[in-house]
Amino acid sequence: MDKRSYVIDELISAKAIAARVEALAKEIEEAFHGTDKLIVVGLLRGSFVFIADLVRELDLPVEVDFLEASSYGGEMVSSREVRILKDLRGEIGGRDVLVVEDIVDTGFTLNHVLRLLSSRGPRRLETIALLDKPSRREVDIKATWTGFEIPDAFVVGYGIDFAQRNRNLPYIGTVRFTE
Ligand code: IMP
Repeated sequence: MDKRSYVIDELISAKAIAARVEALAKEIEEAFHGTDKLIVVGLLRGSFVFIADLVRELDLPVEVDFLEASSYGGEMVSSREVRILKDLRGEIGGRDVLVVEDIVDTGFTLNHVLRLLSSRGPRRLETIALLDKPSRREVDIKATWTGFEIPDAFVVGYGIDFAQRNRNLPYIGTVRFTE
């Protein structure tokens, strides 16, 4: 684990996040209008705050499930090899599925998860990512909806961690090392 000291500079305020989540929820409601088959799938652990806020803005019948894929393993670089650490509890065959991701970085995680879930025969499979770092992409993939495009910086807060810390910050900030 990285033991260097760091400070966190605010990048996206809690207020800006709340406004964006509300707007995204409206788009999702329109896109899934009339469905009674929606399952919102949060990718653990980084999406837990986002999914909690998002589903509370959705005026639709929704079910919530979670899936955990391995990612950074305490480091600041992506591992590329994605493993499923915790699978869904429910079946998604014939259902409308919205996968909720915190950040699309290289794209390996989302790509792996979407391939896995599409093999289970959902009626519809869409994705929403709170953050997107397009300059870091190694797999050609884009979420259906994106909250904010951000530069190539390591971010924390609003559910997103650095070595398991800072998930509880209400805003999103960038990590800046001071030594
Ligand atoms: P990808 O497979 O490279 O797209 O990585 C996706 C996952 O890496 C995200 O779901 C995050 O958990 C993690 N990640 C990517 N960028 C950051 C970051 O800036 N801060 C913390 N975690 C990140």
